[in-house]
Amino acid sequence: MAKPLKVGLAGLGTVGTAVMRLLEHERDKLAARCGRPIEVVAVSARSRGKKRGIDLKKLRWFADPARLAADPEIDVLVEVIGGAGNPAKRAVETALAAGKPVVTANKALLASEGYKLAMLAERHDVALNFEASVAGGIPIVKTLREGLNGNSFNRIYGILNGTCNYILSRMEEDRLAFAECLREAQRLGYAEADPSFDVEGHDTAQKLSILASLAFGTKVDPGAVYVEGISSITLADLDAAAELGYRVKLLGVAVRTEAGIEQRVHPTMVRKDSAIAQVMGVTNAVTVDAEGLSPITLVGPGAGGMATASAVVSDLADIARGVRIPPFGRPAARMTAIRKAPMQRHEGGYYIRLLARDRPGSAATIARRLAQRQISLESIVQRHEIRPPGGGQAGRSGAPVPVILITYATSEDAVRKALAAVRRDRVISGRPQVIRIEKN
Ligand code: HSE
Repeated sequence: MAKPLKVGLAGLGTVGTAVMRLLEHERDKLAARCGRPIEVVAVSARSRGKKRGIDLKKLRWFADPARLAADPEIDVLVEVIGGAGNPAKRAVETALAAGKPVVTANKALLASEGYKLAMLAERHDVALNFEASVAGGIPIVKTLREGLNGNSFNRIYGILNGTCNYILSRMEEDRLAFAECLREAQRLGYAEADPSFDVEGHDTAQKLSILASLAFGTKVDPGAVYVEGISSITLADLDAAAELGYRVKLLGVAVRTEAGIEQRVHPTMVRKDSAIAQVMGVTNAVTVDAEGLSPITLVGPGAGGMATASAVVSDLADIARGVRIPPFGRPAARMTAIRKAPMQRHEGGYYIRLLARDRPGSAATIARRLAQRQISLESIVQRHEIRPPGGGQAGRSGAPVPVILITYATSEDAVRKALAAVRRDRVISGRPQVIRIEKN
C-alpha cells in the first residue's frame, strides 16, 4: 500500500478526540477507500496532562500549534482549535505557507479570513478543506462546491445553529420560556461559550457567509449579513404562528436579487408543512434552491464531536486521495467583492404583532398607516381578553389588545416606515414584533 498520510492534529477538545477515535475506528476502511492509511502522528493542545480517554503515548507533542504546522514529518494539518485569531490563524497560515494542506472546522476563521487563506492555499498549490465549519455532519460544502457544480444558485437557506433550533423547539413543544430553554441548551453543551453568539444570530451569520461565498462566488463577508437573533421571540409568537399555519425558525438566508446578494439571519416564519419546518431540536438543515432542480434539503447533526469529526475525516480522505478543489469552488482570484443588497429592499410577507391601545380608532389608524405604504393585509386577528361569564364586555378592559397582522409581499422599507408612523400615532404600546415570512 502507498505511504500513509501523516496528520498533525491541532486541538484535542471534543472534536479533536472524536477525530482520533473515528480515524482509529475506520482505519482499514479508510485505507481501502483512499488507497493509503491516514495516521495521526503529532498533536498539539493546551494541556498535555488532561484525561481524554485516548492514547497519546506514541504521538509527538507540540505545545505550539504553529510549530506542529511547520514540522517536516506531517503532511497535513487538522485545525480544530477554533477562534478567528491566534493560535488557530497562525497554525493554518504556517501550514499553508509551508505547502501543507489544511483541514479546519473553524467557521470564525473562515468567515474572517476565508478569501486570504484561499489565496494562500492556491499560491502554494495545497488544499484548504472546511466541510466541518458549517452545519457539522451535513456535507453542504461538498454539495455546493462539487455536487452542484453545474448549477447556478438562486437561494440557500437553513437552520445553521442547533442551539437556536433547540430553544425554539422546546419553547413550542414544552411551553417553556426562552431563558429556561437557553439554560437547558447550555447544560446539554450545545451553546457556544458565549451563548449570545448563538441566540443573537452571529454563529449563523458566520456560517451563512461561508455558504454564500461557495454559492455565489463572492469573497466571504460576514459584515454583509443582516443579523437578528431569537431572544425577542415569545410563546405568543409561536402560538400565533401555529394558528396561522407557520412555525418560527432562526434561518440564515442567502439569495440572489436584482439589487445584489441578500444575506440575512433572523427569526423566520416557515410554512408548517415545509421540509425545514419539520426539523426540530438541535438538528440542522440546509435547503439549496438551484437552477433546473427542485429544492434539495439536507438534514442532519450540526454540532457535536462525532458529527464534526465525520466532516473532518471526509476532508482528510480527499487529501489522502490527492483530490484538490479550489477552497471556494473557483480560483480565489475569480472571487468577486460582494454586491450587498440592502435590507431595506428585502421583499416578502411579514408577521406583525402589535399591542393596540383599546380605544376607538386604533385599528383604523394602524390600517391607514399600512395602506399609505401600499402594504396589503392577508389576515388580521385581534385577540380580546377572555373574560369570565358576566364579567363585562370582552375587550373593553382598557388593557392593550394584541393585534396580529400578516401582510402580502411588501418591502422591508415600507414595513419599517409604516410601523414608525404607527408608533408616532401612539395607538400601540411597546415595540411591534416583526417576523419575516420565507416562501418555501
Ligand atoms: N453553537 C453551535 C450550534 C455549535 O449551536 O449550532 C456548532 O457550530
